[in-house]
Amino acid sequence: MSLDEALTSLRRGDFILLHDGGKRENEVDMVVAAEFVTPEHIARMRKDAGGLICMSINHGFASNLGLNYMHEILSTSQNFDSGLKKMIIGTAPYGDRPSFSISINHKDTFTGITDKDRALTIYEMSQLFKNNKPDKKEIFNSNFRTPGHVPLLIASEGLLSNRLGHTEMSIYLMKLAGLSPVTAICEMLDSQTYAALSTKKAQEYAKNNAIPYFDGTELVKLARGN
Ligand code: 5RP
Ligand code: CA
Ligand code: ZN
Repeated sequence: MSLDEALTSLRRGDFILLHDGGKRENEVDMVVAAEFVTPEHIARMRKDAGGLICMSINHGFASNLGLNYMHEILSTSQNFDSGLKKMIIGTAPYGDRPSFSISINHKDTFTGITDKDRALTIYEMSQLFKNNKPDKKEIFNSNFRTPGHVPLLIASEGLLSNRLGHTEMSIYLMKLAGLSPVTAICEMLDSQTYAALSTKKAQEYAKNNAIPYFDGTELVKLARGN
């Protein structure tokens, strides 16, 4: 599927499927721009993808909000003893450190987990990004709560020059689409094999549901200028 088709779908508020590449997780995530997220999107990711519904944000936005990676937060915490610190992930089997930061709920959610609650949390983060007031961090601190039900992922600085995760790829796509750098992403899993959904099955799902399937290695080539 062409890049233009993927960007058009994202600008319309529709999903794309994004494969990171055979040399990494080899997973396909459902991706949607946070500024268009509705409870229907969350329900579909929960039912059709089945992985962890996360929200990716770009590095600059995370820095403005004072957010760090969870592995950094835990490794410097005085309330996390040396035994627990041994558990902190170095690199995953496929080579990267996790992009996880804290998990959040918007203050107007109830439990935080329902489709409408998670959609609100994700949508409101996109609106916070768009907010031009200088006190973004104060708004974040007063309007969101942690721990919550939406894990935040921070895209690495320099995006695809540093890390080739769905976190970075989805944010790079937002940049190309001219959308806010906040996305909702969720891994597609296979309830027959109990493994990640194969690229073949993901492509069939894409075809049957008229969703663009995009190979992230194309993005890497584009980012590297070849
Ligand atoms: C959160 C994950 C997923 O793999 C997600 O795609 C983001 O991670 P990455 O940037 O490493 O691909 O681990 O559920
Ligand atoms: Ca991952
Ligand atoms: Zn991933």
